[in-house]
Amino acid sequence: MDMSNQTASSQQMLGVLSGSAPELVANPFPLFAQMRSMGAVIQLPFSLPGLGQRAWLVTRMQEAVQVLKDLASFTVDPRSIGDTNSSHQTAADYVGAESMMLSQTMLSVDDPDHRRLRSLVSKAFTPRYIESLRPCVQEIADTLLDRVQDQGQIELVTDYAFPLPINVISEMLGVPRSDHDQIRVWSQALAQGQSVGGRDPGVAAHQRAFGEYTAQLVAQKRKQPGDDLISQMIAIEEEGDRLSEAELFSMITLLIFAGHETTSNLIATGTLMLLDYPEQLEKLKADHSLIPAAVEELLRYNGPATIVAPRFAKKDTELAGQQIQQGDVLLVLPASANRDESQFPDPEDLNIARALNRHIAFGYGIHTCLGAPLARLEGDIAFTTLLRRMPNLRLAIPRESITWHFSLNSRSLAALPLAF
Ligand code: HEM
Repeated sequence: MDMSNQTASSQQMLGVLSGSAPELVANPFPLFAQMRSMGAVIQLPFSLPGLGQRAWLVTRMQEAVQVLKDLASFTVDPRSIGDTNSSHQTAADYVGAESMMLSQTMLSVDDPDHRRLRSLVSKAFTPRYIESLRPCVQEIADTLLDRVQDQGQIELVTDYAFPLPINVISEMLGVPRSDHDQIRVWSQALAQGQSVGGRDPGVAAHQRAFGEYTAQLVAQKRKQPGDDLISQMIAIEEEGDRLSEAELFSMITLLIFAGHETTSNLIATGTLMLLDYPEQLEKLKADHSLIPAAVEELLRYNGPATIVAPRFAKKDTELAGQQIQQGDVLLVLPASANRDESQFPDPEDLNIARALNRHIAFGYGIHTCLGAPLARLEGDIAFTTLLRRMPNLRLAIPRESITWHFSLNSRSLAALPLAF
C-alpha cells in the first residue's frame, strides 16, 4: 500500500471526524470508498488526541460487525483492560462529556453492568410500547408544521427536524412542556460544541446549567412522581441496589443526548436526499406505505452516525490481516460499512425499493441503538406528515449553498430552507 496516499487519506478522514474539512463533511463518501479499497482495517499513521497511541479505522461491513460483536476481544470501556489513562476519549465523550455525567451510561460499560442498566429502561423502548406513542408524536409533528403552514416556507432543521425528537423524548421523560424550548437550546449548544478530538470551551456553562436543571427536575419528581420515565427510574433507584444516583443522572442525560441530534439528522438529511432523487420522492408521495422502507434505505445511504463509540482491544488479536495490539483503539465507520460494495449492489445509489437485508446505521451487538424503534417511528411520522401537508416541497436556496457541520458522532445540515 502506498503510505503517502494512506497518510493523506487518513488526514482527510480526521478532517471529516473533527469537522475541520467542511467540503469533505458535505460529501465524505468518495473518501470512504477510497479507504475501503485500501483495506477493511487501516491503521492511522498518527495518534489521535485523547485516543491512545495506535488507532485503526474499520471501513467494511464484515469487520465492523466483528468488532461490535466480539466482546471477548473489544470493549467500550478502556478501564476494563486495566487502562486507567484518564486522557482516553471513551464512549462517554462520544455522546457528550464526562462532566455531563455521562461516564456511567450503558454505552460506556460492558456486561453485566450494561445489561443491568439497559434492562431498566428497555421496556420503554420496545417496538410495541413505542407504537403506542404514535398519537403523541403525530401531534408534535402537526403542531410544528401548523406554526409555518401559512408562510409558504420552512427552515426544516430549526422548525421541524430538530424540535421533533427533542420534544418527544422530553415528553417521555416527563420534562414539563414549558421547559422543552430550554432543553432544546442546551442540547443544541452542547452538541455543536463537540466533535471527535475537540471540544468548544464555551459548552462548559451550558453543561453546568443543564446539570443543575436535571438535579432540580429529579428532586421535584422525587416529591411528586408522575407517569413518566424519570419517575419510574427514581422509584427503581430508591428501591435499592439496581440503579445508583450517579447512574440515574447519566441515564437521563444519555437518553436526551443519544437520540435527538441523530434523529433530527435522519429527518433533515433524509429530506435533502429525497429532493436529490426526485423520482423516488414522487414514488413516496404517491404511496406513503413505502415510507418505512425508505427510512431504512435513508439510514443506510446517509445515516446520521458516521462513527460509533471507540472500541478498545482487550488483547492482541488479528483483524483483516492486521495485528491489533491490546489497548489499540478501533473507530468503526457505519457510514462507510453501509456502502460496502461487497454487501450492497450499487451502494452509492439511493434506492428506496432496494431489498435491504442489513445495515448498521444503529450499530450492532449488545450496544445496538436502544432508541431504534423510536427513531423509526419518528422518521415514519416526520416524512409522512411532511409529504402529506407540504407535497410541493422544494429547495429555497441553490443546492450548492447548503452547508454541513460535524458534531458528536454525526454529520448534519446547518440549515435546510425549503419552500412549499
Ligand atoms: C436515527 C436516529 C438514531 C441513530 C442513527 C442512532 C444510532 C445509534 C448507534 C450507531 C448506536 C450504537 C453506538 C455504539 O455501538 O457505539 C446507538 C446507541 C444508543 N442509542 Fe441511538 N440512534 C438514534 C436514535 C436514538 C434515540 C431516539 C434514542 C433514545 C431516545 C437513542 C438511544 C440510544 C442509546 C441509549 C444507545 C446506547 C445503547 C447501549 O449501549 O446498549 N438513539 N445509537
